[in-house]
Amino acid sequence: MAVTKNSFIDRARAVLEANRQGNWTTPAEMYPHQWLWDSCFIAIGLSTYDPQRAAKEILSLFRGQWRNGMLPHIIFGQSHDYWEGPEFWRSELSPDSPEGLHTSGFTQPPLPALAAWRVAQRLSDIEARAFLEDAYQALVAYHRWLYRERDVRRQGLVALIHPWETGMDTTPPWMRLIRRLKAPLWLALVERLRMSGPLGLFRQDFRQVPPSQRYSNLDALKLASPVLAYRQRHYDTQAILARPLLKVESDLFNAILIAANDSLAQIAQRLGQKLPQDLMQKAAQTKSALESLWDHQSNQYFSRNLRSGQLIKVSSVSTLVVLFSGSISSESADKLVKLMLNPKKYWTAYPLPSVPTDSSSFHPLRYWQGPTWVNINWLVIQGLLKHGYRPEASQLAARTTQMIERAGFGEYFSPLSGKKLGADNFSWTAALYLDLLELRT
Ligand code: GLC
Repeated sequence: MAVTKNSFIDRARAVLEANRQGNWTTPAEMYPHQWLWDSCFIAIGLSTYDPQRAAKEILSLFRGQWRNGMLPHIIFGQSHDYWEGPEFWRSELSPDSPEGLHTSGFTQPPLPALAAWRVAQRLSDIEARAFLEDAYQALVAYHRWLYRERDVRRQGLVALIHPWETGMDTTPPWMRLIRRLKAPLWLALVERLRMSGPLGLFRQDFRQVPPSQRYSNLDALKLASPVLAYRQRHYDTQAILARPLLKVESDLFNAILIAANDSLAQIAQRLGQKLPQDLMQKAAQTKSALESLWDHQSNQYFSRNLRSGQLIKVSSVSTLVVLFSGSISSESADKLVKLMLNPKKYWTAYPLPSVPTDSSSFHPLRYWQGPTWVNINWLVIQGLLKHGYRPEASQLAARTTQMIERAGFGEYFSPLSGKKLGADNFSWTAALYLDLLELRT
């Protein structure tokens, strides 16, 4: 047992070494650039054995920071092997985009402050202070951007404009909205004439992963289409929100923001400062506004579609991620834990499925439509710990790490068979494996 564990630690580190690009790390060969929340998870894992590299991983995210404070969800490197690359995004159209660097045009879950705070715990005092000083202003600017540009109702909940911002790209609640969007003429024709097939020839993901584990060509076009509309508006938030295609208060994103605000306040304190008043107020507001995403009928959280004002009542594992906020009532937490432990929903042989198994959208192999993701498990495990569910957290950590030891460092896994799926040698699976090992009982 110990031998297996040790060799797995070496293998996990080898994955992070193989995907290294100097100061930052790609998610996998299939994703040859830098992603925002991936780098945060990667830094958390790296900090278990190389906290200095972990600090660089976080700081390298600020290269891509826009003048308005936004941290983009992708910073492009040199590789040309990614089909939605710099020519697709054309971030240079925005006057806010950084000089000499190509990025995407919107963000991803706001984990940097949280990851920075965790990394700092593993550095020496002097190193931690220097690192946090380097990071602090950039983090404040990012949180301010989130509230200034995306707190649409001014109630403290940040709204997202695309499912890629949740990091759960094709999750059913969002796909419902994506599929109902009014298509531009070119897309309506492609759909009408059933012409999406040839796109498969250009999809670089299909070279590495069977199409049955990915999303359809038509869905790929439907996901790309709003980006083209935002590009036309030069990624100007006001212009985008004036005629929004998608405007959603995400349960997962706001729960993570609550935890990240707490980390930012801790960083400020460590630097002998106080979090600026505007951010303190917003942080408190987000905590109380989160409750408006609770659905009393089904006892779970949902995201709110701001175009209709209604909750999107399609279940996904994001409801369990709300535990990560650390701020919900013990009654709600209890209900979520019961939901999680229900074998007909989330407590499968290899939990946690990204969609409950009794949902009509559940598919055990398809990207975000059923498979188990290690980053989601990690978030839920931290949430369980914050709310005092230590045995459940250890159990989920044990199941997750054993699944990885059995199958390897997949991008995602079948919640029924534990088989690894998607890209192989996936960085956050390796990184979070290292972090979760410490929780295994
Ligand atoms: C996919 C995932 C997203 C991740 C990215 C890189 O787009 O859905 O969460 O950040 O791949 O790994």
